[in-house]
Amino acid sequence: MALHVVVMAAGKGTRMKSQRPKVLHRLGGQPLLQHVLDSAAALRPAQTLVITGHGAAEVEAFLAGRALSCVRQVPQLGTGHAIQQVLPQMPAGEGTVLILNGDVPLIRSETAAALVAACADQALALLSAELDAPEGYGRIVRDAEGRVRGIVEHKDASPAQRAIREIYSGIMAAPLPALRRWVGALKNDNAQGEYYLTDIVAMAVAEGVPVRAQTVADDTEVLGVNTPVQLAELERRLQKRLAEQRMEAGVRLADPARFDLRGTLDCGEDVEIDVGCVFEGSVRVGSRVSIGAHCVIRDAEIGDDVVIHPFSHIEGARIGGGARIGPYARLRPGADLGDEVHIGNFVEVKNSTLGRGAKANHLAYLGDATVGARVNYGAGSITANYDGANKHRTVIEDDVHVGSNCVLVAPLTIGAGATIAGGSTIARPAPAGQLTVARARQLSVPTWKRPAKPKKG
Ligand code: UD1
Ligand code: CA
Repeated sequence: MALHVVVMAAGKGTRMKSQRPKVLHRLGGQPLLQHVLDSAAALRPAQTLVITGHGAAEVEAFLAGRALSCVRQVPQLGTGHAIQQVLPQMPAGEGTVLILNGDVPLIRSETAAALVAACADQALALLSAELDAPEGYGRIVRDAEGRVRGIVEHKDASPAQRAIREIYSGIMAAPLPALRRWVGALKNDNAQGEYYLTDIVAMAVAEGVPVRAQTVADDTEVLGVNTPVQLAELERRLQKRLAEQRMEAGVRLADPARFDLRGTLDCGEDVEIDVGCVFEGSVRVGSRVSIGAHCVIRDAEIGDDVVIHPFSHIEGARIGGGARIGPYARLRPGADLGDEVHIGNFVEVKNSTLGRGAKANHLAYLGDATVGARVNYGAGSITANYDGANKHRTVIEDDVHVGSNCVLVAPLTIGAGATIAGGSTIARPAPAGQLTVARARQLSVPTWKRPAKPKKG
């Protein structure tokens, strides 16, 4: 039977106290809505509909170009009203509707699939959870035999109902024809004056339709994000999940509570990651790699046997096998380092390739450069790659030694095996194999006297 997924994302998210629509706040580097859509996509639905309202333009811009439709709900008169808006977009006849919540991001696709399976015989399937702190959630009301009778919203609940710890997650699966019937009959005579989707449960019960509440084992799957505190709590839970997955694959994390992954991280064997590292985008790490504390690594490929010392910042870079990076190194997009390269403290590399065994160990800048094998690039040296309008390349051939505090004015080529004397500003090609010096000749003045302070009194 065709599966229709509806993601509710029109609510205001008042308690986030933010200009940004709630479903676009990030968890693990991705908008909340992206997590929900990823789980839904795994079920291969015939149709996905996202209900937008508050911040609709921003949310729709984020969703542009995807195989889904947005339906605007203006004004927002409650979750039942939201579903009333999308039903006309669904084909007549049979089908199953899975309703997901844009602010409940960590639902697993397996759990959603089990919920869909539970309504296969025209039942209504609710995802519930037992929470120690159920405040604010709708409660699942059962009769003496344990059968579900309805859902009561927290604001409408009696003290006895508020003591119920089984909550409705906001996620359900329903047969399409019955959903049309129930949602069409909703009323808004409740504490919030809203059309509550949750009222359809009592309608199903009255019709004798079976209602199944499936309780999740891991409540992380059903926790909603309403406040910055809840967002941060969920972030920690997600990071714990991700850290455990990495450790199960053999990665040694110094402390899983101080690990942040905001993208994908693939590691070979015997990778050690110290505390406080942040991984973003797509990061691939080889085997026997050690990553020191407090590194930020984004979209990078790191070879085998690499050591990255603490406080290094790496983005859009490739690092060859056996390289040594940092501490306090900065690799920017287009840094392509060969095997055994050493990049030391306060060295910045941008859009440059370094050949095997090249070294820049202290306080240096390499931008738009092609650096050969075994080059030694001295402390304080820079490529002057930008003339205020254009960027130019610097080519440093194999086995060059660049002394300290040199300015290499691009475009420029330094021939193989050349030596550049410290303190030189090099603006013309330096021939291979020779020493090139470009600085004022040293002068000593034997007759010079240091001025003396006038003697007092
Ligand atoms: C809802 C449920 C509650 C459940 C809780 C789980 C109802 C009446 N209550 O309460 O039983 O325990 O979720 O998190 O359904 N939304 C719209 N349009 C609207 C109103 C809401 O699209 O007019 C969207 C929101 O963006 C959100 C979701 O629906 O993604 C839930 O809305 P919210 O206002 O957060 O409902 P809760 O009060 O949390
Ligand atoms: Ca909510």
